[in-house]
Amino acid sequence: MSDRIHTLSGYFHEYQKSVSQPEEFWARIADSFHWKKRWDKVLDWNFEGPDVKWFVNAKLNITENILERHLFTIGDRPAIIWEPNDPNEAGRTLTYRDLYHEVCRFSNVLKAKGIQKGDKVIIYMPMVPEAAIAMLACARVGAIHSVVFAGFSSTALADRINDCEAKMVLTSDGNFRGAKKIPVKAVVDEALEKTTTVKEVIVYQRTGQDVQMVAGRDSWWHESVEGQSDTHQAEEMDSEDMLFILYTSGSTGKPKGVVHTIGGYMVYAKYSFENVFQYSPGDVYWCTADIGWITGHSYIVYGPLLAGATSIMFEGVPTFPDAGRFWAIVDKYQVNQFYTAPTAIRALQAHGTEPLEAYSLDSLKVLGSVGEPINEEAWHWYHTHVGKTRCPIVDTWWQTETGGILVSPLAGITPTKPAYATLPLPGIQLAIMDPEGKELTGNSVEGNLCIKFPWPGMLRTTYGDHERCQQTYFAAYKNKYFTGDGVKRDHDGYYRILGRVDDVINVSGHRMGTAEVENAINEHPLVIESAVVGYPHEVKGQGIYAYVICDMKNRTAENLVSEIKDTVTKIIGPIAKPDKIQIVPGLPKTRSGKIMRRILRKVAEGSLDNMGDTSTLLDPEVVEQIIAGRV
Ligand code: WT7
Repeated sequence: MSDRIHTLSGYFHEYQKSVSQPEEFWARIADSFHWKKRWDKVLDWNFEGPDVKWFVNAKLNITENILERHLFTIGDRPAIIWEPNDPNEAGRTLTYRDLYHEVCRFSNVLKAKGIQKGDKVIIYMPMVPEAAIAMLACARVGAIHSVVFAGFSSTALADRINDCEAKMVLTSDGNFRGAKKIPVKAVVDEALEKTTTVKEVIVYQRTGQDVQMVAGRDSWWHESVEGQSDTHQAEEMDSEDMLFILYTSGSTGKPKGVVHTIGGYMVYAKYSFENVFQYSPGDVYWCTADIGWITGHSYIVYGPLLAGATSIMFEGVPTFPDAGRFWAIVDKYQVNQFYTAPTAIRALQAHGTEPLEAYSLDSLKVLGSVGEPINEEAWHWYHTHVGKTRCPIVDTWWQTETGGILVSPLAGITPTKPAYATLPLPGIQLAIMDPEGKELTGNSVEGNLCIKFPWPGMLRTTYGDHERCQQTYFAAYKNKYFTGDGVKRDHDGYYRILGRVDDVINVSGHRMGTAEVENAINEHPLVIESAVVGYPHEVKGQGIYAYVICDMKNRTAENLVSEIKDTVTKIIGPIAKPDKIQIVPGLPKTRSGKIMRRILRKVAEGSLDNMGDTSTLLDPEVVEQIIAGRV
């Protein structure tokens, strides 16, 4: 059963209902799922705690809504189509029936290895179907998964393991990425030296490279599933039990574990998927994200599979073996909905249109964009050269914390405008706030984006630190969730996301806290102090610019810069490596010792003519020195 909206007036009608009678609205959507026990109350909430509960006291298992539910109706339909990194290697197709059996088998493995309801399991794996199987098996036995992007360093992995006290790590020997073979198990081994909670490691064999297996701790995936039954009785879970923890950066140092719970997330992931992408049964849908990010959770795994969709999972990168790879895959599987990030579009745009010429792309119906504001140029390129002007573009705005898409056109229904995420989905009540905390009503206004009513997919807490959740999201504006983004509502009432207003930078659609990068830089023994800002980058959207005060000893600046880059790669991972590092004699600080980032941002972006008021600086001369040494 589908709750798809079909017309623009249908959208306005549903939106109205979702605001005037939210509980009736979401109860109707939730009714189409399989619950072991129905809820006593649809919603219980306050944003002061915050304390938000959806489908109170309902019992379910999310995987029954993916597996059992589809087994007898669409058991033979492909659930996951896997395309390997190397186009010459055979792909794999798992039907809903195959997926059911694989998830059951692995659920039995988890149980056999002592995993209980409520245990935390880290998934640090490449983009192979087993990663999705692992997520679903955790959900089936009631364990809480925390997927860590396999590009994160051993230190970052250890921090996450320690924060959630994970009992188990699921990983692979290595990872194929383009022409490279990347060690994965070795990173886990290093991370586990800094942790004490992990009792079991299961290793999926992907590359065949040599790995060290620790007796009594490590086992091979293929050996552990051998002889396990391919049926398994799903654990009964409460609607508000945790489904997963996903770590994301904020404006302060340490990544936070965003917590999503089962019932609400399930309802919102499926509803938003079907409506935004206008998915029809039989369509082939492809989201190019990695499962290490929320996009992969909600729109490769949970949303599509709850909807009975065929979801493509791609192991590789857009430019291997050449810049036509995405388009080759679209033609090969006759993809209907294609969902990617502006950074990927811009990277391919740089190769021109020649790599597209060999492909028809006729199957495409809908194009999606996610992760950062899409600039008009990239929007038009995507629309003209990929969508051949016939495919609506859905520019989907959302966050790890929101669980699913909140602002987006519904494909083919909402008239689009380049660079606009357009209108909120049903159930999403937006508010634009001015700095004084007043809501700006009416059109043609600009301010901070907040949400004033709960939606089922929202985060419930930050793991182990509820106070931090309250402070980060619910303290800036009373009774409102604050997104951290700036927004404009234009004369038509359309929303355009303007980017982060806090100390978070968006690098290739990945969130990086400036403080987190600074902490990593400061680990270098010769670094005295550093300040990190974002600057406009042609492909990445934003690049990382670091100003660093160093004790030079006998090093050259060049040496130090490359050592500092290595330090950041080692502590966080290659995605956090600064694009530019400038060694400076001092930083522009106010008399109270606060770094004036406004000035550093201006220098980084190259707007050097007007530095604004620098009279409150302790040492105004330092600005001249920084400008002179700009890299
Ligand atoms: C931040 C959230 C949500 C999945 C990927 C990123 C930015 C995301 C858009 C968009 C403009 C966007 C925002 C947001 N962002 N989508 N369509 N237009 N900005 O998830 O890592 O949690 O980052 O990404 O700044 O706050 P995330």
